[in-house]
Amino acid sequence: MQIATTENVIPTIGSKEIVAWLPTLLNLDKNHTIAIPSVAYPTYKVGALIAGCEVVTADGVSELEAARVSAENRKQPLALVWINTPSNPTGKVLSEIELREIVQWAQKYNVIVVSDECYVELGWTTTPISILHKNVIGKSATNILAVHSLSKRSNFAGYRAGILVGDGELVSQILEIRKHAGMLTALPVQAAAVAAFNDDDHVRKQHATYKNRRDLLKPALEKAGFKIEHSDAGLYLWATRAEDCWQTVAWFAEQGALVAPGAFYGNAGNEHVRIALTASDERISALVSRLT
Ligand SMILES: Cc1ncc(COP(=O)(O)O)c(C=O)c1O
Repeated sequence: MQIATTENVIPTIGSKEIVAWLPTLLNLDKNHTIAIPSVAYPTYKVGALIAGCEVVTADGVSELEAARVSAENRKQPLALVWINTPSNPTGKVLSEIELREIVQWAQKYNVIVVSDECYVELGWTTTPISILHKNVIGKSATNILAVHSLSKRSNFAGYRAGILVGDGELVSQILEIRKHAGMLTALPVQAAAVAAFNDDDHVRKQHATYKNRRDLLKPALEKAGFKIEHSDAGLYLWATRAEDCWQTVAWFAEQGALVAPGAFYGNAGNEHVRIALTASDERISALVSRLT
């Protein structure tokens, strides 16, 4: 992936840090509402709570519009929307059309949209697209930001390297506060990040590794009676056997596998579990043998 080394990119200390602090950096508080996906990575809510904002869940433009109107009526305007494509935990990918609808809606109503795209290179049945792609935003990134991370695409989690990119005005406003708050990425890590973002070969290898694991594990889970939903991209299989997620977690534990209960990500995940493709090839193969 080519990234612009221009003034509209801020290096971040991994992407979790910016997810947790962005509402605060944008001066949002109890007078504002933040929308997050109904099944979501928990840090979106954590960041909203740190800033003291009201949190609502909404997926897609019609739910976002309903959330905006209701926030307006409560006099806590909807100021920020998080989307996550591909999603952790579901692996759902927003299409170009869905992204465009969200951008047009956000620009019309002056709402900031931040797209967390840390799994964007890990597409299996589809090729995920960034909200900042020209087919989505056209010529204007107004109100639109994207978050990227090297933790997944480059297996760089320990380096803590990510970026925030997009609307130049918002980026400079956020940068101004970050530099005075010491939210700085160490120079050697920045140099490593530039090298990693400029190289796609290692990303192809990572992609192949995860794809092989997914190709083994998905059919084995289906044979064992699980329905795999979404999971079109990203590092997880989102699986259900139409039972309480804790029952499924216990069943996997008996097979020697640790999976995440869907309830961690919102009530809509109560009957799902998230199965990560991050265990070693050998461990994934061992689980596949036990399942089949
Ligand atoms: C959707 C999502 N965003 C952000 C992060 C944070 O990753 P990092 O801080 O390592 O970049 C994760 C980590 O699992 C994630 O799943």
